[in-house]
Amino acid sequence: MRRLAIYGGKPLKGELTVQGSKNAALPILAATLLSAEPCRVCNCPDLTDVHTAFQILEGLGARVDYNGFEAQISSANIRTPEICDALMCKMRSSVFFLGAMLSRFGKAKIGYPGGCALGARPIDLHIKAMEQLGVTFQEEAGTITATLSRFRQGTVRLAFPSVGATENLLLLCAISKGETVILNPAKEPEIVDLQNFLNGMGAKIQGAGSDVIRIQGVHKLHGCSYRVMPDRVVAATYASATVACGGETLLRQTNPEHLTSFLEVLKRTGAEVDAQKAQLRIVMKERPYSVGMVKTLPYPGFPTDMQPLLMAALLQAKGTTVFYETIFENRLRHVADFQRMGADIAADGQIATVTGVGQLHGAKVRASDLRGGAALAIAGLSACGYTEIGDIGHIERGYVHLEEQLRLLGGDVALIED
Ligand code: UD1
Repeated sequence: MRRLAIYGGKPLKGELTVQGSKNAALPILAATLLSAEPCRVCNCPDLTDVHTAFQILEGLGARVDYNGFEAQISSANIRTPEICDALMCKMRSSVFFLGAMLSRFGKAKIGYPGGCALGARPIDLHIKAMEQLGVTFQEEAGTITATLSRFRQGTVRLAFPSVGATENLLLLCAISKGETVILNPAKEPEIVDLQNFLNGMGAKIQGAGSDVIRIQGVHKLHGCSYRVMPDRVVAATYASATVACGGETLLRQTNPEHLTSFLEVLKRTGAEVDAQKAQLRIVMKERPYSVGMVKTLPYPGFPTDMQPLLMAALLQAKGTTVFYETIFENRLRHVADFQRMGADIAADGQIATVTGVGQLHGAKVRASDLRGGAALAIAGLSACGYTEIGDIGHIERGYVHLEEQLRLLGGDVALIED
């Protein structure tokens, strides 16, 4: 069983280069299906979720060559529109292959996607929007068969700005007839990255990151070479660790513009934040201050993925912070493990009230989801004594060697394999 062993209680000091974004890479990997010509995806992080995407592509008949950083994908010989259940349920992002396969082949056969258990996580918004554009769905024994016989151009309004549904619509409509307009789309930077990648393949998409996305369908796309954006959640993880432990860290190859709402809150903790064009320096000289209320919202609001990370940073803050998780109904599972480490948290539904304690102590805990697991590592680094984190498979879905990265920042962290 693989575990993380952490001896905490020391300030951090060091620097590292932030990995490529998982949430940008995954829809981009699905988008490589849209052309028979090869695509090159650089800064593609070496993560289990990325390898699942490779397995899905290979299962469909694509050729994938990956060297741990750069993926070359050729989808010239796709032989089936069907993805097996075992791969579908490994991650939520398998759902992107629905839009990609419909765009290129007019047909897709998939099971329901898996992913972190943060709540119900239905795909009704994806399905409803696609139906408006002419896709028909049939479901039998958990398998969804989607068919696109005749694309119906038009305007689609999302009832909620779902990240995945917005990305699936970009994938579906990139190759189509006429213009599709998406109203109330999600505005996350990863959607802009997908738009840029698709436009690099010859698509005509504009407006990602704003309130309206316009897709002028094209007949065919070509191959391209693209560099995935830096991972903003991973950057927020190391910044939160610095606030939790104190010290000074430099995060290279990051885009502070993607972190605006997070950094505003971080400054209120007392952290000195020096945001340059592509790097971020965080200096934390004293015990953090609490920050009042943090409410998670769609971008550009405070990101739900950063809620567990910031909470970990504020477990020892002076005063009380109230976290209101509005995006997912079950995203406070890290609270019970924080409490095992001595944290003072009152949780009720989607609200957690955190009153900073003078000192946390190490404990044996288990990662219950990806970001919650990384948050336990932050808490472990700031706690006095030994912390052991089990079930780190969740963490490995999104962090390239978290233990090595934290060691670069001066953390005493080891991977135990037995
Ligand atoms: C993406 C991110 C995830 C992040 C989330 C919110 C990826 C691979 N994952 O997930 O890290 O936490 O955005 O920023 O990019 N919903 C529905 N029906 C749908 C779709 C969504 O009810 O058809 C609900 C979800 O259950 C959730 C909320 O809408 O409560 C947000 O989901 P969504 O924005 O779609 O997140 P994901 O794309 O799953």
